Amino acid sequence: MSGAKNSALKLMAAALLGQGVFHLDNVPRITDVRTMAEVLQCLGAKVTFQGHQMAIEVSSLQGRTPEQLVKSMRASVQVMGPLLARLGWVEVALPGGCAIGRRPLDIHLSGFQQMGASVVLNGDRLVARAPGGLRGADITLRYPSVGATENIMMAAALARGETVIRNAAREPEIVEVQAFLQAMGARVFGAGTPVITVQGVPELGCTDFSVMPDRIEAGTYLLAFLITGGEGTVCRVRPGHFSSLLSVIQAMGGEVAVEGSKVSVAAPKRLHPFALVTRPYPGFPTDLQPQMVAAATQAHGRSELRETVFDQRFGYVRELRKLGAVVRQTGQTVRVYGPVQLRGAQLEAGDLRAGAALVLAALAAEGRTLISGAQHIDRGYECLEEKLGGLGARITRLATMGG
Ligand code: EPZ
Repeated sequence: MSGAKNSALKLMAAALLGQGVFHLDNVPRITDVRTMAEVLQCLGAKVTFQGHQMAIEVSSLQGRTPEQLVKSMRASVQVMGPLLARLGWVEVALPGGCAIGRRPLDIHLSGFQQMGASVVLNGDRLVARAPGGLRGADITLRYPSVGATENIMMAAALARGETVIRNAAREPEIVEVQAFLQAMGARVFGAGTPVITVQGVPELGCTDFSVMPDRIEAGTYLLAFLITGGEGTVCRVRPGHFSSLLSVIQAMGGEVAVEGSKVSVAAPKRLHPFALVTRPYPGFPTDLQPQMVAAATQAHGRSELRETVFDQRFGYVRELRKLGAVVRQTGQTVRVYGPVQLRGAQLEAGDLRAGAALVLAALAAEGRTLISGAQHIDRGYECLEEKLGGLGARITRLATMGG
């Protein structure tokens, strides 16, 4: 598997807290990483990216982020914590609401304010200031937001005194941010549990670091084996990062074999239906919800999925219906009736994981499916057509497709 998108982006942001040259390896060659590299360069860092190796040189920085880049990628807001802590100010354009819901920043901003920052909205530009530096605070998040947890951790690393973050998100990507910060000299503890403690230090250095494998990419490929009634193995993964998915695959009748950093899945003759609810980690990940709905179209019976993390993450269902899927949505729950022989159609990918779900459904469909909006998929999947092609899929990229 490639390096994890949702870890690489945060490590790149965390580097802004330090000084010197960072060397990252196993960095995925995906659009979002290139966008974040551009953001860092606009802020004054030097970034070189060859193969899967990235060097980031941080010396002097400025805190105004490039409007267009922030609107094109929400993850750019992860630079707020580092810049606010290091420069005492940061200015970002409000990130564009994307295809999966409103996605406000209130939890991030409330954390910064509790640490002594002032936050002002000028039009659609957010300006946060802490001229006298940030001070540690005891912060309870109203929701275990992944991005807010990471942003506040990073800000706290250079704040005066101790910060406690309660009801913190527990995703593996957050444990990686802690390890990265510790390697830079930060005093951060508790990542992976609901309480993270940070003792601020005056300055941070730099480090070399390897990006962890992408658990969502791994899950997407395991579901490709399942939905096509086939079998296969994903390598260089951390199975413990997606045990909730492995349990659902077993509940569907799939055979799962874990051997070190390899996970194999073999589809059963008849896929059983399932019920699941998406939750913050270690619950079932929302980023695999669309892919699970695609797989449910091939299960014998009625499956039920409830989305609790985002408020509009079923946009892709209308596209699955074009293939013949039978899916009923009521509020944040969908019921999927199968098995249905899907038939190729012309589809539109609205966002990254929706696009992945359409690819999976197209693999199970009879005939040819055209998916436009492939640029959304390229945001988070490296060499998708080569990887799937190597598994027996017939998938080609039509350069002329829109977008
Ligand atoms: C991260 O987004 C991931 N992105 C998402 O992956 C992932 O779906 C999400 O975490 C949940 O696991 C990256 O890491 C770059 P949140 P993030 O803050 O940090 C609400 C993908 O496909 N919320 O945990 O933005 C928010 O609206 C992407 O790779 C507030 O209300 O997620 C959402 O409903 C998609 N106020 C919920 O919390 C806030 O201040 C979870 O958001 C922040 C969040």
